[in-house]
Amino acid sequence: TRTPVNVTVTGAAGQIGYALLFRIASGQLLGPDVPVALRLLEIPQGLKAAEGTAMELDDCAFPLLRGIDISDDPNVAFEGANVALLVGARPRTKGMERGDLLEANGGIFKPQGKAINDHAADDIKVLVVGNPANTNALIAQAAAPDVPAERFTAMTRLDHNRALSQLAKKTGVQVSEIKKLTIWGNHSATQYPDVFHAEVAGKNAAEVVNDEQWLADTFIPTVAKRGAAIIEARGASSAASAANAAIDHVHTWVNGTDTGDWTSAGVVSDGSYGVPEGLISSFPVTAKDGRFEIVQGLDINEFSRTRIDTSVQELEEEREAVRGLGLI
Ligand code: NAI
Repeated sequence: TRTPVNVTVTGAAGQIGYALLFRIASGQLLGPDVPVALRLLEIPQGLKAAEGTAMELDDCAFPLLRGIDISDDPNVAFEGANVALLVGARPRTKGMERGDLLEANGGIFKPQGKAINDHAADDIKVLVVGNPANTNALIAQAAAPDVPAERFTAMTRLDHNRALSQLAKKTGVQVSEIKKLTIWGNHSATQYPDVFHAEVAGKNAAEVVNDEQWLADTFIPTVAKRGAAIIEARGASSAASAANAAIDHVHTWVNGTDTGDWTSAGVVSDGSYGVPEGLISSFPVTAKDGRFEIVQGLDINEFSRTRIDTSVQELEEEREAVRGLGLI
């Protein structure tokens, strides 16, 4: 039998954790033939609830699940990790300034990055979900100098999926008929969902839509503010859809993108499209042989350029802020 893949999940007792763990254990993260061992990281107050979730995981009798370990010590939880989903983060509370938020999260993601550096398996792949995801990923990456930087990624797949769904509704096709959509920049309100290279049933999406005002005034804000709309409607932030996007992100990373399509992920910039090197920014990416690659050579029009620049500018400001705080 195959050795199980060690999957570490932080914030395991939170609402995304609850929506995520059962899908990982059922084989949806890596594939139907891949056994998994779960490592759950929580803060001390979250351990009891994590144990409850572990009891329920046991009660599912998942054939692929080869063990569950729970810890409040990152050095234990990341031991031998092949995949790490960093979900637990410090949320912004009322009156909290951005600097305070970055500092509080630095206190989480810097030690976790170091623990990954010191204890994870050589093939470790990291997805940061906890917000501010891009900059938290940057902090963790900077704390892991022995791990190739490209192994640290941030989640914009939920934004990507939201955009797919909105565009499918507008154009009257199934989501499966939409290809090559892109989320650029930061996973924040400045993110830019780009349809100019996308295809709707084989035709250029921007031409099918043929309505720049809808793009600017409806599509982009609907995608960018969807998180707030979910909170307003549900009384709680998106959890199942966020967990689903995390599953999609890692599944794509490990198993690859389809020919003729790409997806969106926050990956370390190599300077492509004028995004300063080292920033963890969302790009159009393909995946093959367990590696993401930024899609090259796309023409960026004026409409897109200003929006990409605005979001990237925000990422640069966040990087400056965490540099000032000594977090990177
Ligand atoms: P939650 O508050 O329900 O759960 C967070 C869990 O993390 C809690 O159980 C908490 O005890 C735990 N935690 C806190 N600090 C920790 C640490 N240092 N180590 C281990 N665990 C720790 O929050 P929820 O709804 O599960 O969301 C988690 C994060 O995901 C939030 O930061 C949220 O903003 C973010 N998010 C990101 C999305 C994206 O698209 N990138 C989409 C939706 C949410």
